[in-house]
Order: sequence, then structure tokens, then C-alpha cells
Amino acid sequence: MTPRLSVIGTGYLGATHAACMAELGFEVIGLDISPAKVELLTKGTVPFYEPGLDEVLSRNIANGRLRFTTDFAEAASQADVHFICVGTPQAAGAQKADMSQVFGSVEQLAPHLADGALVVGKSTVPVGTADEIARRLAVSNPGVEVAWNPEFLREGFAVQDTLHPDRLVVGVRSARAEERLREVYAPIISDGVPFLVMDFPTAELVKVAANSFLATKISFINAMAEVCEAAGADVTRLAEAIGYDPRIGNRFLAAGLGFGGGCLPKDIRAFMARAGELGADEALLFLREVDQINLRRRMHTVDLARKMLDGSFIDKRITVLGASFKPDSDDVRDSPSLDVAVAMSNAGADVVVHDPKGLENAARVYPHMAYDQDVMSALGGADLVVLGTEWREYRDLDPAAAARQVRAARIIDGRNTLDPQAWRAAGWTYRALGRPHA
Ligand code: UGA
Repeated sequence: MTPRLSVIGTGYLGATHAACMAELGFEVIGLDISPAKVELLTKGTVPFYEPGLDEVLSRNIANGRLRFTTDFAEAASQADVHFICVGTPQAAGAQKADMSQVFGSVEQLAPHLADGALVVGKSTVPVGTADEIARRLAVSNPGVEVAWNPEFLREGFAVQDTLHPDRLVVGVRSARAEERLREVYAPIISDGVPFLVMDFPTAELVKVAANSFLATKISFINAMAEVCEAAGADVTRLAEAIGYDPRIGNRFLAAGLGFGGGCLPKDIRAFMARAGELGADEALLFLREVDQINLRRRMHTVDLARKMLDGSFIDKRITVLGASFKPDSDDVRDSPSLDVAVAMSNAGADVVVHDPKGLENAARVYPHMAYDQDVMSALGGADLVVLGTEWREYRDLDPAAAARQVRAARIIDGRNTLDPQAWRAAGWTYRALGRPHA
């Protein structure tokens, strides 16, 4: 029998997973505790910016395969495989993950689950969570099974990454659970995507290990940027040169303001906290350094800005280009660019932030900051411009036209994304991170 699916939690991960599973031909019911979100999704509106998701969502609502609810009983009755896609943010005042949404959603679902149902965790969790959920369900729902199936999608490429992933990873305890998941992912497996079956803790660890590796790669190149600054070298040429070695590879070696978002920063912190609980804290001490290198890039950028403004932010107008943590996303969680903007504002500068998609979210978090939706007017009267997120729109800026808007043509390229020669030729004082002489 073709499995019917529910997706619990319709944030970036869940909304994408629900829409893409319907796109693959399954009947899907998405659940969220927010009635406002459910109302928007039901109308075919994605409550956040994710390229291409609107079409997949609308198409599958129209064809009747996809719907949304706030009712756990309804979700349980309409599906037999239930994906848990709720958030695991950093806990307030702590390094570890706040697991209340994961355990809360399973607890609310459990009383309605039929025997034979499969609960599949997709959220990024501390190792041991799947085991704990299975232990709890064994008491309340002995006929229900658990599996773990971490998600590797990137914001901005969520649809592509869900429909055409690099690999599928499932942690299972029975052949039956594996079989069910093979049915769910049959269309993807038939494309030749590797389907890796393992135990619970390994599946959970795959996700945090992958994100830790990515974070480490970024901090590695940013550490090199610090050395390049001291030695008068150019980190972009260095990255290019080491990247030709296929063992190193050139991806995720872009030096700049570093990583942010709702995943990498909190995942490495939660991983360290969990390793500590397990008595393996020494193994992950290096991640503390990875985190520190990453945060230092933001402070360094603020210091560089102060230096370029002759030592003081007072009465200086600064335009920050970028509020989202990366391009093609409206997500401002732990955004390096926004962090730098707020730090300079707190230090006395008159800061205006521009972003093609992220201003609404930014204003929600920092209502006291000034925002401008038009890039040319945002540049108006600036004493300094700081590019913090490498949106295409900024790469395509005409440096001469931009120069006409500002009071003083000074720019920090926080993502090494502009052409220094073109900007200098248009009269700009150009500074970048890790390239003192660029
Ligand atoms: C990340 C992982 O890449 C996904 O595989 C994972 O599924 C996801 O977290 C998650 O845990 O859900 P995402 O947070 O969407 O995805 O963003 P990334 O593309 O990984 O970028 C993270 C940050 O690193 C961004 O702030 C980006 O600007 C920065 N970055 C990336 C660099 O500073 N340099 C680089 O070379 C690459």
C-alpha cells in the first residue's frame, strides 16, 4: 500500500518536505500549531522566502495531494508515516538545543497514532533523541515504530536538495521501518541517490558531523584570512590555490564574515554540549575555536569600519548591504551582516540596512534599526558601505552610480564578492577581509 504521509512542523524544513513529498506523488498532510501559518499554506502562500517553493506548494494544493491542519488527530488519521520537522533552536541561556518542540509534538501526536504507524524524525537533534522517543512510545504506543532520517537541505536550494539530495540517511531498528522508508523515497532512490541504512545514533550524528565539518571548513579559511591580514597576503588566491587539490576542494572556502543562520552556529554549540554530557567533550574542543574564529570576523569588521571612519562612529552614516544570513533567503537568524549592523549602531553610527528579502524579519528582531528597501536610496549620504551578504543585486551594482549616492566612497566587502579594480576605478576606497592589499 502506498504510504500516506504527515509532516509535523511547517518551517523551512517541514513546508519544503511536505510540498516535495506531494510533488513525488504522495498524499501529504502538513501540521503546524500556528493557525496563521496553516492558513497561509492552505492558500498556497509560503510564509518565508524560498526560491521555487511557491510553485511546488500551489501545484500540489491544487491537485489535492497536499493539505494542512492544526489538528493532531486529523494528521494521525490521514497518514501512516509521520515526519517530525519541528525546530530545535539553541536553548535560552545555554549552549544545548531546546528539545521542547520535538518531544512536545511526539507527545501530542501519540494518543492519536494507529498501530503500525512510523514516526520519522528529521529535525537536527542531540544524539540519543531517537532512542528516547522510541523508549517513550514503547510505553504509550507499543505498536508504533521510530526511525531517524536527517535532512541536509540548504536554504535557498531547499526544493532542489529535497528532490535531488546527495544521499538519504535512515536510522532504523527493523527491516519493516527500512522497507517503509524505501517506499517513501522510491522515486529518489531510483534516480541512483545512495540510500544509507544505519542505527539511530549514527544517523543522528551524521547530521551534526556534516554541519560541524562545513563550519570547520569555513572557519579554517577565515583563520587563514586572519593570517593573510597579518602577512599581507590574499586569502581568495590562497583558497583558489588550495582548492585545486581534490582532497581539499574549493567549495565552502569563501572567506568573509563567516557562517550564520538557524543551523550551523547552534548545531556546533549543541553538539559540544551533548558531547560533554556523554563524557566526550575533549573530542569537540576544536569546535569552540571554530565558533570563536567565526565570531571574531564580525568584530574584526566592526573594527575595520571604525578605522576607515577615522576612529569614531559618532555622526557617521553607514549603509549595510544585507540582512539575511546568506543570499536567496529571508532568514536573519544569527545573521553575520545584521550582527555587524547592530554592533555599529550600538557604537553610535547612524546605520541603514538594505536587503532584497530579509527586511521584514530583520525589523521584527531589531525594530529600532533603520531599513530601506531601495538600494540606491539606502546608499544615500553614506560615509561607509559594508557589504555583509553576497546578494546578486550587490554584485551587479554599478560602482560609479553607487559612488554618486554616497557622501564618501568607502566600502568594506565583507564577502569578497565585488571586483576591487572596478570599484577602485570608480573612486572607491575598497577594503575586504583577508586581503589587505586587494
Ligand atoms: C546548512 C547546511 O549547509 C545544510 O546541509 C544543512 O541541512 C542545514 O544547514 C541545516 O542544518 O538544516 P544553511 O544553513 O541553509 O545549510 O546554509 P549554508 O549554505 O550551509 O551556509 C551557512 C553559512 O555559511 C552562511 O551564513 C554562509 O554565508 C556561510 N558560508 C558558506 C561562508 O561564510 N563561506 C562559505 O564558503 C560558505
